[in-house]
Amino acid sequence: MPESKIALYYKNVSASVIGDEHGITDEQFKELAQKTLPAIAECNKQRKEGVIPYRDLPYNEDYPKAVKAVAEEIKSGDCENFVVLGIGGSALGNIALQTALNPYMYNMDENQRKGPRLFVFDNVDPMQLGSFLSWIGDKLDKTIFNVISKSGRTAETAAQFLVIRQLLLEKLGKDGFAKQVVAVTDAKAGTMRKIADDSKLRTLVVPDGVGGRFSVLSPVGLLSAAICGIDIDAMLAGARQMDERCSKEDFFANPAAINAAINWHYYNRQKPISVMMPYAYALKDLSDWYRQIWAESLGKTHNRQGDEVFVGPTPVKAIGTTDQHSQVQLYREGPNDKLFTFLQVKEFEQDVTIGANPQVAPELGYLSGQKMSKLLNSEKLATEYALLHDKRPCLTVLFDRIDASTIGEFIYLFEVTTSIAGVLFDIDAYNQPAVELGKEATFALMGREDFSELVEKIEPFARIDDTFLA
Ligand code: PA5
Repeated sequence: MPESKIALYYKNVSASVIGDEHGITDEQFKELAQKTLPAIAECNKQRKEGVIPYRDLPYNEDYPKAVKAVAEEIKSGDCENFVVLGIGGSALGNIALQTALNPYMYNMDENQRKGPRLFVFDNVDPMQLGSFLSWIGDKLDKTIFNVISKSGRTAETAAQFLVIRQLLLEKLGKDGFAKQVVAVTDAKAGTMRKIADDSKLRTLVVPDGVGGRFSVLSPVGLLSAAICGIDIDAMLAGARQMDERCSKEDFFANPAAINAAINWHYYNRQKPISVMMPYAYALKDLSDWYRQIWAESLGKTHNRQGDEVFVGPTPVKAIGTTDQHSQVQLYREGPNDKLFTFLQVKEFEQDVTIGANPQVAPELGYLSGQKMSKLLNSEKLATEYALLHDKRPCLTVLFDRIDASTIGEFIYLFEVTTSIAGVLFDIDAYNQPAVELGKEATFALMGREDFSELVEKIEPFARIDDTFLA
């Protein structure tokens, strides 16, 4: 087994560091272990029974094989641009992998990239898409569009797809359309499957029983990653390695269990906000991926017995060091209602040395000749120190390095953390019933006949009441 390369450091939530009022005492840690052991066992049992198939994605050999075959075929052609159309779980993982594992200037500098440019559209903003369409118009034959939708009925993805489909049909004809599109969708059912089969599109599958937010290690996230030169085998190996740790029915040896238990503990002790604060540009979009898996999985009206509980921690993204100059004032002096999770990198693949200070500014001399990585990590420690000074609990996910393996580990760690937290909160972590009403209201407002009765209900809210216009 390769040596593990990420670790959860949790000393700074302990009472020995931040005191008994806000910290976790040894006794409470023991109680948390007792409470969480059955939750680990329950997740392991669900996995064995096939209830949570995302757990086995890192072991599946067919998906990476199929992904690599499509990626090879695309890369052997004339593909300069790869465009993902998707939203939520069908986009956030793709964005996170690209930011984490490819250089900042990837799209701009062909010397820095091992694949086509990547664009991910996870919205229906007319100006954003309009600008892109003005640019892509004469490059369509060198562009592959990867539409990702399990259902095919998601309004945003469907709208983007219909725009691109029409454009491709007009410019390149039916065969061109089929050639330039790869669909990732349900194996058998759904609107996108119907379209893909009818138009003879290349397809890869969204595995059965795997919800969008748990799907990044399936073809949903793997195809764009593989096309852009990310080592998907190493990423899956990292996830497998983390699986071994997260399956252990030994609380103190299981980072997902500790992570879930600490989060659950603080939620029940007036700290319902979970701030994830990466100190690395590459890790910043993992926070968006985390926000989705945490919010959609754990925010629920009912518990598993059907009682109303209105439960759910609120995930917040903050960026180190940027948000030190925006949020930290609140984090230190505002209500002590947050648990902080820092992401810290020990060794950066690239470093930059800070230049000499001008003679007129000797006060900047302390910076000159120092490594930028040292400044970044010093600022992380400084911020953590300041928060601890004010008795704010802090966790750190420590990355030895940012590479495909550690990113695979991180993803799997937070997926299993979410599952175990779901059991601790006693809710169904795998549904998202509250997303439906907004989707249906959109259908109604956009004129779908089968949702027309909703229009009347929405109408009073659509009318602007002048009394309240300031
Ligand atoms: O996590 C989820 O299940 C959602 O975010 C979905 O991924 C999102 O709604 C997109 O759904 P679909 O893939 O059916 O277009």
